[in-house]
Amino acid sequence: MDTIRGAAGPPSCSWTPPSQSSSRSWRRRAASVAEAPSSSVSGLGAAIRKDVPILEQSINGRPLVYLDNAATSQKPLAVIQAMDDYYRHYNSNVHRGVHTLSAKATTAYEEARGKVARFVGAASDREIVFTRNASEAINLVAMTWGMDNLKPGDEIILSVAEHHSNLVPWQLVAQKTGAVLKHVRLTDSQELDMQHLRELVTPSTKLISLVHVSNMLGAVLDVEAVVDAARSVGAKVLLDACQSVPHMAIDVRALGVDWIVASGHKAMAPTGIGFLWGRYELLETMPPWMGGGEMIQDVFLDHSTYAAPPARFEAGTPSIAEAIGLGAACDYLAGIGMEQVHAYEQEIGCYLYERLAALDKVTIYGPPPSAKRGRASLASFNVGGLHATDVSTLLDTAGVAVRSGHHCTQPLHRHLGIPASARASCYIYNTFQEVDLFIDALKETIDFFGEMGME
Ligand code: ALA
Repeated sequence: MDTIRGAAGPPSCSWTPPSQSSSRSWRRRAASVAEAPSSSVSGLGAAIRKDVPILEQSINGRPLVYLDNAATSQKPLAVIQAMDDYYRHYNSNVHRGVHTLSAKATTAYEEARGKVARFVGAASDREIVFTRNASEAINLVAMTWGMDNLKPGDEIILSVAEHHSNLVPWQLVAQKTGAVLKHVRLTDSQELDMQHLRELVTPSTKLISLVHVSNMLGAVLDVEAVVDAARSVGAKVLLDACQSVPHMAIDVRALGVDWIVASGHKAMAPTGIGFLWGRYELLETMPPWMGGGEMIQDVFLDHSTYAAPPARFEAGTPSIAEAIGLGAACDYLAGIGMEQVHAYEQEIGCYLYERLAALDKVTIYGPPPSAKRGRASLASFNVGGLHATDVSTLLDTAGVAVRSGHHCTQPLHRHLGIPASARASCYIYNTFQEVDLFIDALKETIDFFGEMGME
C-alpha cells in the first residue's frame, strides 16, 4: 500500500460539517478502494470486514454496526481457523510429551510467542510471558516485582485515568508493603498532565505505571516524558498497552519502558490470552508468583527451584489454542501493516469525533484529534439530560453496539463529575458509512427522548 494518509502524525481532521453528499462520497470511495485496497488506506475498513464473518448480520432488523471494539474486537477467519486447526488436528498438551501431537502443539505455542515478540519489537521470544489477560499481567508484576521491591514510604505513580486493572493491583500491593500511591491529574484538554507527573516524582518514586492510550478519553500518553521522569530517579515504568497494541505499531525497545501488558481479545485474538513483555534481565530478577507444573526446575518435598522466564511465570497448562489464535492475529495485523491500521484509524476516529461534535447536546471526553499525539479512534460521550445506558439501549434497537457505563474507569468518571458515559469505539473493519449509521441512530435516539420530554 503506497498511500498512507495521516500516518505521519495526528490528522488535520478537516472534515466539513457532515452532509449526505460528503457521506456518499466516502461510501463511493470505500467501495471503489475495497476492490483495490493496495492503493489507499481509506478503503481499508470495507476490505477488512470481508474477513470478519460475525459482522455480516442484522440486529433488530438493521445491519449490525459494531462500535464496541475497545471492550473487545471481532475475530477474522484466519484466527478462528488457526484455533479450529489446533483442535481438529493436533490438540495436545505442550512441553510435556515426546509424541508427535505434543511436539506439534509445543512448536505452535512457542511459534506464537515468537510472533507476539516480533509484533511488539521484543529483543527475544523469552521476553514474552503468556497470561490470561492484561489484568493478570499487571497482577503478575505487582505480586512479584512489587512485593519484592517496595517498602514503606516508596511511591507508585498512577493516574486518575487508569483502568481498574492498573489501580487495584497496586492498591493491594500498597496495603501490604506500606508503599504510597500518587495520581497524575488531567490537563484542561483531558490528557495526562506531564507537568504534574514531574512534580509528583521524588527520590522515593519506585514505579510509574500508566495507560498508553486511554480506553475512555482516547488520549495518547507522552511515553518519552514519562520515561525521562522515571529515569531521573531510577524508577521503573509499566505501560498498560491494551488500547495501543491493537491499533498502532509498537516497538517496546524504542518506547524505553520496563514492562508492557496487553490482552489478545482487543487485537482480533481470542479471550483468555494476553501477555506481559518485560526486559529479560528484569524478568530474571522477579520471583515466581503462581506455583505449579511447568514453572519449576526441580521439585523436592519441602522446596523447589524454578525455571527461567518466561516458563517461571506460566504455571499449569496454558491457554494453548488461545495463544495460537493470538499468534494468528499478530500475523493477520502484521499482514495489513500496523502503520496502515493506525493511519486508517486516525482517519475514521477523526470522522467519528467530528460527526459527534457537530451534534447539539453531545459532550465528548478527551482531547481533540488535533492534539499533539492525536487520539484513539473512539469517543466517550454523553447527551445532555440522558443517561448513557438509555442512549446505548436505544442505539441497540437500531443495530448499533456501543458500550455504556464507567468502562472500568470509575475514578476517572468521578474526576470528570459524571456517573457514566456512552462510548463508540472503532477498529480496522469499521467503515465511514457505519459512523454515519451510528450518527443517524443517535439523532433518532435524541429525538425520541426529546419527544418524551426526557432531555
Ligand atoms: N476495559 C475494557 C473496556 O474499556 C473492557 O471496555
